[in-house]
Amino acid sequence: MTNAGAELGSRALFPTLSARVYANHAAISPLSQPVVARMHEAIADYAAEGLGAITPWVRDRELLRCELAEFFGVSANTLGFVQNTSSGVRAVALGVPWKTGDRVLVFDGEFPANVTPWERAAELYKLEILSMPIDRFRVDPGRAWIEFQRHLDRGVRLVAVSVVEFQTGFRVPLSEITRRSHLAGAEVFADAIQAAGAIPLNIGKLDVDYLCGGGRKWMMGAEGGGYLYVHDRCIADLRPVVAGWLSHENPLDFLGAGPGLLRRGRPIRPSTDFVEGGALNVIGYAGLRAALGLIRAIGTRRIFDHIQAWHDLLEPEMIERGFVSMRSERAEGRSGILSFAPPAGHRAADLTAGLLGAGVSAGNPEGLLRFAPHWPNSLNEISGVVAAVDGALSDAESRG
Ligand SMILES: Cc1ncc(COP(=O)(O)O)c(C=O)c1O
Repeated sequence: MTNAGAELGSRALFPTLSARVYANHAAISPLSQPVVARMHEAIADYAAEGLGAITPWVRDRELLRCELAEFFGVSANTLGFVQNTSSGVRAVALGVPWKTGDRVLVFDGEFPANVTPWERAAELYKLEILSMPIDRFRVDPGRAWIEFQRHLDRGVRLVAVSVVEFQTGFRVPLSEITRRSHLAGAEVFADAIQAAGAIPLNIGKLDVDYLCGGGRKWMMGAEGGGYLYVHDRCIADLRPVVAGWLSHENPLDFLGAGPGLLRRGRPIRPSTDFVEGGALNVIGYAGLRAALGLIRAIGTRRIFDHIQAWHDLLEPEMIERGFVSMRSERAEGRSGILSFAPPAGHRAADLTAGLLGAGVSAGNPEGLLRFAPHWPNSLNEISGVVAAVDGALSDAESRG
């Protein structure tokens, strides 16, 4: 694998990317050449070797586990591979040793991947769901902390929150949320899909109890490859409800190590990889490893600074045109996402359609116009983006 050509502001590794400006990493990442090449390698190996391809690619995935662990500042045995963020949330939502009446705090305005599984668990285990608006931490933090603390004081078993909000791009004050939650005896589950890859993220330092994410956005891998982190202190209590045939200790022995090993009741591994209960997306993880290699070669601090420089150039232009910026005033509240409420009389969906027509790929969640550039985006793109915004605004106006 090579990390050659991974340069801030250069699209050299994305030669077939059709959008002139791709600023939609909060939705999905285009695949870079090294990621595509690595996935092709895996496919070619399976085409040539069949069963014989498994061992080298399982080894490759174990290397990815170690590299991800280093990247996140945790140990490898705390990470498991899951299909997507939702599978990671589900594994924990079903596996916490709940007691009837336990309370889970979720946030209004959160992406549903970190809400729905808790609601399902609430139905199954007779839990109580509490909620408060997540955006309050951005617009009125004083009031948010009072409300948050009031919930904690009622007794909360678990707080489920995203590291970065998908619509506003607000990076929530996760360290303080975690500190207060732990003081009140609550655990914290964090969804990192909008954060990991775009901002420096040391899970070990954050001290959250659980965290998961997917590889297809800011990590720049393919769809269908995610990760789950479970802190050492939580793993023994987490019930392996989602375990499958590959979750046992030495799960393959019965296939190759002799007769008599296919017994029922074999123990489930007491590590996060128990979530890998069946065959995994080998090709997707091969790609994710290449993608992570590129991110690590550049470094998330430099990536974050580069993205902020892109945002710094675009934000005043948008404000001048009547857009309202959702960006946090504080650097620690910022992320890869820069979102705007459109000027009166404009709809974000129309504007993104207009932008796409001009070769600029952006998103429009919850009525906001969302720009999500990453390391390959150049600062020279901004004048083109602004011209495309002007075009989209005047098209919309002329349509009345
Ligand atoms: C905050 C957040 N969580 C989760 C997801 C996706 O969940 P999954 O990986 O399960 O598809 C998204 C966006 O697609 C998101 O913005």
